[in-house]
Amino acid sequence: MPVPPWDQLTGWQKAQVELTLQVFYTTVRAGQAGLSDGGGPFGFDIHTALLVDDLLSDFSCDAIVETGCFLGDTTEYLARRYPNMPVRTCDVVQQHADFTRHRVAELPNADVSWRDSPLLVEEASRTYQRPLLFLDAHWAESWPLERELAAISCGVVMIHDFDVGHQRFGFDTYNGLVCGPQVLARMENPPNVYFTPDPHAAWPLPCLQTGRRAGVGILAIGEDPDPLISHPQLLTHHLTAKAVTNP
Ligand SMILES: C[S@@+](CC[C@H](N)C(=O)[O-])C[C@H]1O[C@@H](n2cnc3c(N)ncnc32)[C@H](O)[C@@H]1O
Repeated sequence: MPVPPWDQLTGWQKAQVELTLQVFYTTVRAGQAGLSDGGGPFGFDIHTALLVDDLLSDFSCDAIVETGCFLGDTTEYLARRYPNMPVRTCDVVQQHADFTRHRVAELPNADVSWRDSPLLVEEASRTYQRPLLFLDAHWAESWPLERELAAISCGVVMIHDFDVGHQRFGFDTYNGLVCGPQVLARMENPPNVYFTPDPHAAWPLPCLQTGRRAGVGILAIGEDPDPLISHPQLLTHHLTAKAVTNP
């Protein structure tokens, strides 16, 4: 169920938010070693973590898949926050995968592999019924997002570093292609609608990321998008003709 601002929360919702708060801010930001946002789960944006809480419950997800673990900030957060949920991640750089595997070695629900991310996504689509997929694999020239999207047959998808059309939120561009609706329009079966967090929405916790914040794009693949349409902190967008005709 979507989470309204604090004073409107039920006791159960308050407990969920407090758990997210506790796990989120006790996760070491190892990613500061190489990430422009200083690292931390979801680029240290707790609104994304709260959104994940909602989506896991709204879609009754049976697994979480992250692509591109780097040093494991988001992996560790997810595995500790959802100890009863399989958390699968990978990285194409062996040192990143090894570091993260070592970091989450005590968390039995976490699985880290050294491989190209579309392979993990394709395997997860065969293994799980409704995974939540956090797509964050990119580095230098490597941008597997389009191959990842092509490999997904079911689940709710969150694309990190997505252009949400607001100056506070950063996004990626690879070879002139913006990580935004243009990428969705190039899918073999583009979604009719996609979603972004409303930059003006009220959340039960403040975001303490004062540096770069990453935009997030959300879509449902093989699932009814109704929970996203009715989510109070998400904006619904239709893919426009402009996006469809972009390179
Ligand atoms: C922005 S970092 C990920 C940050 C991490 N998700 C977190 O929240 O801390 C991107 C990672 O994607 C990895 N990567 C790039 N291309 C990849 C590919 N094709 N398959 C898997 N990982 C990839 C990079 O090695 C890098 O570690």
